[in-house]
Amino acid sequence: MRILIMDGSAALRPALEASLKQVFPQAVIDTVRADQIRFSGCAACDVCSWKTPGICAHPGLARDIARFFAQADLCVLVTGLSSGAPQAASKALWEHILPVVHPGFVRYRGELHHRLRYPRLPGLLFVAESAYPAGDPHSEFESAIFASWAERAACNTMSHAASLIVPAGQAPDTGRLNALLNDLARCTPAQGDRLPPLSVPGLPDPADPGQQSPLLILAASGRKNSNSLAIARWLANQTFKDGLEAQVVDSMTTAPDETGRRILDAGQLFVIAPTWHDALPASTIRLLEQLAASGGSAGRGRPLFALVHSGYPEPAQTATALASLRFFALEHNWHWAGGMTAGATSIIDGRDLTEAGFFTRNLRQGLALAAADLAAGRAISSKAVRAAARPPLPGWLFASAGNMMVKKRIRQLRAAGIDPDARPYLASGTETGNSHHI
Ligand SMILES: Cc1cc2nc3c(=O)[nH]c(=O)nc-3n(C[C@H](O)[C@H](O)[C@H](O)COP(=O)(O)O)c2cc1C
Repeated sequence: MRILIMDGSAALRPALEASLKQVFPQAVIDTVRADQIRFSGCAACDVCSWKTPGICAHPGLARDIARFFAQADLCVLVTGLSSGAPQAASKALWEHILPVVHPGFVRYRGELHHRLRYPRLPGLLFVAESAYPAGDPHSEFESAIFASWAERAACNTMSHAASLIVPAGQAPDTGRLNALLNDLARCTPAQGDRLPPLSVPGLPDPADPGQQSPLLILAASGRKNSNSLAIARWLANQTFKDGLEAQVVDSMTTAPDETGRRILDAGQLFVIAPTWHDALPASTIRLLEQLAASGGSAGRGRPLFALVHSGYPEPAQTATALASLRFFALEHNWHWAGGMTAGATSIIDGRDLTEAGFFTRNLRQGLALAAADLAAGRAISSKAVRAAARPPLPGWLFASAGNMMVKKRIRQLRAAGIDPDARPYLASGTETGNSHHI
């Protein structure tokens, strides 16, 4: 039995270690602590897909994460929560599993996903410390979002998952923790706090924000020249045409303090972010944490709109990240005025949406309708939400067209002597300073 612990919570660590010792006395454990990689999540550089297939470009421990993950039977992530999502430091750890998937596409549980580089990936246990005490109504939202993220993570790794939320200041229930570990080890469907996936938030119609006031559009991705920025610019142009001036702030090129100041000055805020591993990128979560710490997140009843977009085409892919932003609005006294989703946005590749053509036509239609709503001082209509959410292609066609492109690149790679299907971590047994028996 080999276990990977992604450790982002000093408070939960002792109970987890005690349970692991009890349930798997012979296990070999690899531990990676969030503070060891200093917040740096995936850089979205694509090196693990095309240059060194299966191996992360980040040196050091961040690179070891994919190896530990590929060789583990069970992966346990312990974390605090930020608006229901794992805190930025823990999310950054999770993002480094990316090399275990292959660039090719398959359909899984009715959705598009990357195929796995390895025959199977570990069972997943996500244990979180709530930001709220037992009985606080906010913890209900938090649990729903975190449990839904656990489900999404299991979908992306074609594995199975359970989640456990521990009220703030309490120790996990050892009996419950042991039972979940046993379930996962037997590969039976885990019995954690699982809920059906959330529907796309933003529906039914949100409340009306009332009057029109200066709009700030925040592009909040984890990389420069992002698709989020391209979408933000297109939306700003559109609202301008409709008579509403909007400023665009790119979180990747603006310091968090400055972003906070601009948000405080704005009349209304529109956040545009991608989904990375079924939640907001680590760097986006970190920005929200920084804003909360500096007071820049205070909504004071102002309207907050959001669009979360994804590489895969289905709206379900963004549900958890969108729910986190909606919960953030509730926590920080913003007036939630509409959530949108759009799929298949990787194709934008930082270009103007019009230039990106056919694949962005539904997104552009939804954004044009949303811009008219914004300019008229209305909440985003469900017509705008539905238009943007419509996948540009059915899933099966998307998968075969995507795979045709991937195959072409794979041929080029083979010609250059690189094995695109490499499984660099298939053989286990390479111990490092972080492995130990319990
Ligand atoms: C590290 C990483 C993880 C991703 N995870 C997902 C995912 O779980 N589901 C999905 O549909 N798309 C996923 N994507 C695709 C992005 O959502 C998509 O490419 C988006 O257009 C990126 O927008 P950006 O340029 O603003 O970051 C991921 C992309 C990256 C770089």
